[in-house]
Amino acid sequence: MTTLPPVKPVTVSAANTIANQSADVVVVVLDETDLEQGKIKSTELQNIDSQLGGAVAALVALKDFEGKWLSTAVTLCPVNAVAKRVLLVGGGKKTDEKPARARQLGLKIAEETARFKSVKVTLCGTSTFLSTGELVSQMTLGLRMGCYKYPNSNLTAEARKELETPVEFKVAGTQSNVEAHLKQAAIVADSIETCRLLQDAPPNVATPAYVASVMSEKARAAGLSVQVYGGEKLRQMGFGAMMAVAGGSANDAQFVVFEYAPTNAKKSLAFVGKGLTMDTGGYSIKTPSTHQVGMKYDMSGAAVTLNAVVAIAKLQLPIRVFGVAALCENMVDAHAYRVGDVLTTYNGKTIEVLNTDAEGRIVLSDALAYTAKDLKADTIIEYSTLTGAMITSLGHLGAGVFAFNSDTLEKTVVNAAQQVGERVWPMPTWEEIGEDIKGTIADVTNIGATAGAAGSSVGAMFLKEFVENKPYCHVDIAGVANGNMALGFPRKISSGYGVQLSIEIARALSLN
Ligand code: BES
Ligand code: ZN
Ligand code: ZN
Repeated sequence: MTTLPPVKPVTVSAANTIANQSADVVVVVLDETDLEQGKIKSTELQNIDSQLGGAVAALVALKDFEGKWLSTAVTLCPVNAVAKRVLLVGGGKKTDEKPARARQLGLKIAEETARFKSVKVTLCGTSTFLSTGELVSQMTLGLRMGCYKYPNSNLTAEARKELETPVEFKVAGTQSNVEAHLKQAAIVADSIETCRLLQDAPPNVATPAYVASVMSEKARAAGLSVQVYGGEKLRQMGFGAMMAVAGGSANDAQFVVFEYAPTNAKKSLAFVGKGLTMDTGGYSIKTPSTHQVGMKYDMSGAAVTLNAVVAIAKLQLPIRVFGVAALCENMVDAHAYRVGDVLTTYNGKTIEVLNTDAEGRIVLSDALAYTAKDLKADTIIEYSTLTGAMITSLGHLGAGVFAFNSDTLEKTVVNAAQQVGERVWPMPTWEEIGEDIKGTIADVTNIGATAGAAGSSVGAMFLKEFVENKPYCHVDIAGVANGNMALGFPRKISSGYGVQLSIEIARALSLN
């Protein structure tokens, strides 16, 4: 058994009203339009406030809370009210990007209520607040994600007790069909949580074998079939590219393939993830060494794809789905690969290595070729923290998408991203960019001839050489995997970005 570190138990369930919940705190979400000149406008909210002993009206009258986006105010309730205190949270103005905003509210609520150590929290608002099942789901994800913390490796007894204390969120006044959404959201939240625990784990803990082992147990429990190939086997199979990258590492490489094959599936889809559990850059070493900080997150693509497939299986979506992860380390030693080496990949194409730090595309060349040839998936979606240039292009706000060999795939991905509030942006895939990696002594070089030019697209054009003209989308998550604003919150840790997007893509492709 490989164990994950402990995380706080958090449940989110539905409640008819805010009454009789013995809540430590009732959270009321108020939009700017819910208030006017220090008064609550709707009778709906006035009714809620009367159960809170008029605490909201009293606070709002002071005009220090006006419903501004993510603003907060706390006040005590009179003794006979339904809760001890009220937390007001501002819903801001009505805007687009509703899924992301519901999730952001959840994140904020989780963080704020943790500050006063609440165990029982009831949420409410007007009927426009959480008006659909999707918004309830996003709120649930926000609450769960906001409670997430990678624990200190040496917890004090007090900290352990705090961590083990459960939090119960109740969402009041929501529609009757909400139970199904809460159940589904819990599945997604579990996958995001595991994804983040693997992302945040230090590289001496989250080795390729650790990630493979943790995820294999989760996958088997969800009824998936599981294959894990170690280094020796991969060498025999012809993974010449991946094994070159793994050459300098003391930790064995692992290639993981999960399969979910429901009997009602008509199509198949493969998610492929870059799984560098540490990227030092190799002999083209990351300089200054501060650029190595955070490179434990270079396995985020692998964590996303494996966890997404586990969730897709638990959600029983009617589509055959593979989860593929290429896990290894990019290190420096006598066996490490070098600049100038020519590598033979799984499909026979050759690569001349011109920079050992552009290792993700090398590892993925074998993984993609295997997915196209052996798994024969109809569509391939691949996630990787591939290029620093992606951060230059889109910052930490969204992922770049590069779609190939399909008239519809880009749209499918963009629509899915909008549905779940994980931002993506389509990037250029101009043929001329591909000219830059044409090789002389090998088929391709692993970096472009024009240094720094369209770096993210160059990576994408390299990868598409290995998918046998199958519909393929490369998603560069370098900016959003960790320490980012991807999901609307600044944080130094993992984001789990991509788990929801993958599930939504699978859902969309299962429908048509
Ligand atoms: N893992 C990095 C990309 C990266 C950089 C992710 C910063 C997140 C934050 C990747 O392996 C890499 O080093 N790419 C090089 C490619 C270059 C040598 C063509 C890069 O982006 O500098
Ligand atoms: Zn690198
Ligand atoms: Zn890398």
